[in-house]
Amino acid sequence: MNTATDCFVLHNKSTIPCLGFGTWQIPDGAAAIGAVKEALKKGYRHIDAAAIYGNETSVGKGIAESGVNRAELFVTSKVWNSERGYDNTLAAFEKTLADLQLKYLDLYLIHWPASPSQFADWKTINQKTWKAMEDLYKSERVRAIGVCNFMPHHLEPLMQGDVRPMVNQIEYHPGQKQEETVQFCELNSILVEAWSPLGTGKMLSNPMLSAIAAKYRKSVAQLCIKWCLQNGVLPLPKSVTPSRIAENLQVFDFTIAEEDMRAINRMKYFGGSGLDPDRVPF
Ligand code: A2P
Repeated sequence: MNTATDCFVLHNKSTIPCLGFGTWQIPDGAAAIGAVKEALKKGYRHIDAAAIYGNETSVGKGIAESGVNRAELFVTSKVWNSERGYDNTLAAFEKTLADLQLKYLDLYLIHWPASPSQFADWKTINQKTWKAMEDLYKSERVRAIGVCNFMPHHLEPLMQGDVRPMVNQIEYHPGQKQEETVQFCELNSILVEAWSPLGTGKMLSNPMLSAIAAKYRKSVAQLCIKWCLQNGVLPLPKSVTPSRIAENLQVFDFTIAEEDMRAINRMKYFGGSGLDPDRVPF
């Protein structure tokens, strides 16, 4: 990958720009409109949105006001937990499209799996939601479909459907590599995307990461983003700060050496969201 618009290829042969702009935790209104416009001005062409972020109308305004051609953009959204099931998922998709002012999505994802700790019939719930995703895909209103936060036991029941997931977006940053999930995805040609590649900022003060980043005259944020890419994972850093939005794109002019990749890959957990997909209370 040499620029943010170079692409990973999904198993259905559609392409996805290798670095996306995360919109989680960007306040609705001027902040979200401004951040999306700034990201598109700086060169991002991949925007990661979700209904639950509460800012899709503003994300849509930012896209519209940017003047960037729809065909050049890759836009993702996600169906929230309260909308699981076949009919609710179809309705949620319509609302998201209307909020974003778009005619199609590039990628639609199930935001969290229904889990065994919450539902006896969690498998059936996920399969019904997935059936709606498949039908949206077959109707060509979305160009690729997938999931977020699915572990292998959540993914397994979806592998028998007509269309297999193309993407799994998970929490992924140094110290949180979710190896079993990533391995399952690799074996099944599912692209892994990283939410919170900076550990929501928690990576940034780590002394070891700081020392490695300094070797390359890069920031820890840039190191984390590049580390994702070199591991074949698509990073989705979020920022509302123009200088950081730009900084997070400047990751294509250095390569992390094998020994440093190994050292980062070996890091033990030192902070993150703490959310376990099988135990989240939402
Ligand atoms: P802000 O949005 O105020 O610029 P993640 O993508 O892992 O969820 O991390 C997002 C957090 O990291 C936000 O608090 C964001 O702050 C901060 N952040 C994003 N990019 C950088 C950067 N290049 N340097 C320092 N902090 C950053």
